[in-house]
Amino acid sequence: MDKEVTKKRIAELTEQINRHNYNYYVKSAPIISDYDFDMLLKELEQLEKEHPEFAFPNSPTKRVGGDITKKFESVTHRYPMLSLSNTYSREEIIDWENRIKKLSESPLSYVCELKYDGVAIGIRYKNGELVQAVTRGDGSTGEDITTNVRTIKTVPLKLHGNYPDEFEIRGEIFFPLENFNKVNQEREAAGEALFANPRNSASGTLKSQDSSVVAQRGLDCYLYGVYGEDLNFQTHSEAVKTAGEWGFKIPDSTKIMISTCDSIDAIMDFIQYWEKNRGELPFEIDGIVIKVDNYDQQDELGFTAKSPRWAIAYKYKAEKVETILEEVTYQVGRTGAVTPVANLKPVLLAGTTVKRASLHNADQIEKLDLHKGDTVYVEKGGEIIPKIVGVNLEKRNNQHERISFLENCPECNAVLVRREGEAQHYCPNENGCHPQIKGKIEHFIGRKAMDIEGLGPETIDLLYNKGLIRNYSDLYDLTFDQVVGLDRMADKSASNMIKGIEASKQIPFERVLFALGIRHVGETVAKKLARHFKSIDAIKMASFDELISVDEIGEKIAISIQQFFLQEDNQKIVEKLQQKGLVFETKSADTASNILQNKTFVISGVFQKVSREKLAELIEQNGGKNTSSVSAKTNYLVAGENMGPAKLEKATKLGVTIISEDDFLAMISA
Ligand code: IVH
Repeated sequence: MDKEVTKKRIAELTEQINRHNYNYYVKSAPIISDYDFDMLLKELEQLEKEHPEFAFPNSPTKRVGGDITKKFESVTHRYPMLSLSNTYSREEIIDWENRIKKLSESPLSYVCELKYDGVAIGIRYKNGELVQAVTRGDGSTGEDITTNVRTIKTVPLKLHGNYPDEFEIRGEIFFPLENFNKVNQEREAAGEALFANPRNSASGTLKSQDSSVVAQRGLDCYLYGVYGEDLNFQTHSEAVKTAGEWGFKIPDSTKIMISTCDSIDAIMDFIQYWEKNRGELPFEIDGIVIKVDNYDQQDELGFTAKSPRWAIAYKYKAEKVETILEEVTYQVGRTGAVTPVANLKPVLLAGTTVKRASLHNADQIEKLDLHKGDTVYVEKGGEIIPKIVGVNLEKRNNQHERISFLENCPECNAVLVRREGEAQHYCPNENGCHPQIKGKIEHFIGRKAMDIEGLGPETIDLLYNKGLIRNYSDLYDLTFDQVVGLDRMADKSASNMIKGIEASKQIPFERVLFALGIRHVGETVAKKLARHFKSIDAIKMASFDELISVDEIGEKIAISIQQFFLQEDNQKIVEKLQQKGLVFETKSADTASNILQNKTFVISGVFQKVSREKLAELIEQNGGKNTSSVSAKTNYLVAGENMGPAKLEKATKLGVTIISEDDFLAMISA
């Protein structure tokens, strides 16, 4: 075949097969026979083999998988992937509605959806082509699993209809029960260990390096949110419906899988309907999601740090079972916190075998009045770790001995302390207790801290056990010769590690401060401190009053900072790190000015010169505060195109100064 003809035929076949796939998988209404379909696919495979240069990256032949991903790259989400707050009763939903009614000007209408029990995914499309699929990760950064997601038949590789040039769609990838059971039957026949439950195995499958494994398992995906700069939807329900027209699998409204509701009664009907009928669904759900339908109202309600105010989950009651509490053991964490763990007689709960349950702290043990050998009730909510919710007292006898909390550290034997007002016991031997030392080093090298490439928990263990490091500052003494030849440490890994350590000397001050692992100084607090004090020396010297004068720094944090610097060991470690050349000052590029100090901003709409993210960054870099919803505390509303009318109205009513992108840029360059 002539090259041009082949190229054209490949394009034609790609288009045709994509359409048939959509008809078959999304619409469940094929228009050709399986045989004819296979013939088309075979022809395309053959032509692509002869002329790989003409194959499209989104070719339907990718659906069968085969591409290998060695390492899933980290990707920062354009829009953070948040979670939802949970409710368990009608009363809690009424409370939620009352809270949001106070924040919204106009009457609210809702959409109820199923809460699919799977793995969240964000998929980006450009000019109608799938370009990237990223897991939720920690909410701000996830992993690029595009190759694997391409094999999921209901995820369109190419869109049809009138789609926007660029957008992200979010949804849930899950294991349909039929496919999950089939895979388990095959595993059983092959003498392999069975998968515990559909959600965890969907998650494991998506991390397969070989995409043909993903293709064979038969995962599925429902979509629940469209994100982009220039989308012209008024409501969430309209966005979901329209995404269906572009080729996505969306919940079927005729089967009441999605429904608009304008009263609590209607919401409760939806919840009760699915509580009764969820067993009929071909996949698992763990609850219902209720969302405010109107986008302007969503904007008006905004977000808390973790979740949108405009949506809430209703979780179905967790499954509960009885088992025997065999013993309580204790774990010591990086901060010295001692956590009790219940060791249980293995029991099957919601599809998984449970052997351990979290007990949190001494109060929890006391509250439950636990005795060794007790028959306990174990429950599994959304969390991975199940918990003990009660004791079957009828089954207790006088041989069962009461459990009392440890007095000494199970690792180093130091006497445990419990500070006033705190529920947790701590081992005070910060620099002499192994799990604490190792935990601190692991925290130090972590992605959000020093992000040292080539170093992980196993290598830390190795270096520690060989006596090469005693605290994180010792990492900067390591030489190539010392590490090469250690277990599984070839030339390349050793040199990568040393390079990684060297490179970490460029990490900005706020992250170094976070990496130090001062109790209660998380990422945000470290940022605030670094911006305010600008150097470690200034923080060290700061009085208690100076510390608590900083926005969001309370007494607990201030005490912890002062205690950290009072300890001689810590002083020595910090001094050594300073000598080694780590960044202990805020560079001028990190904080441009303090020109916006005490000024609170809200950003709304789409901008021409800089993105919303950049605007938020500029506000913070110049000492201002960026918030999501307009209130009496807002000083400026930075208004872009297509901003929500409700926001504008509220700002006008409250007398908030409304400025343009240009006004804002002029403000900070003054
Ligand atoms: S909306 C801002 N809708 O539940 C969060 N989430 O606990 C917007 N989920 O991470 C999420 N079904 O993975 C939404 N119909 C649905 C959902 C759903 C399942 C998952 C999602 C999210 C988690 C939140």
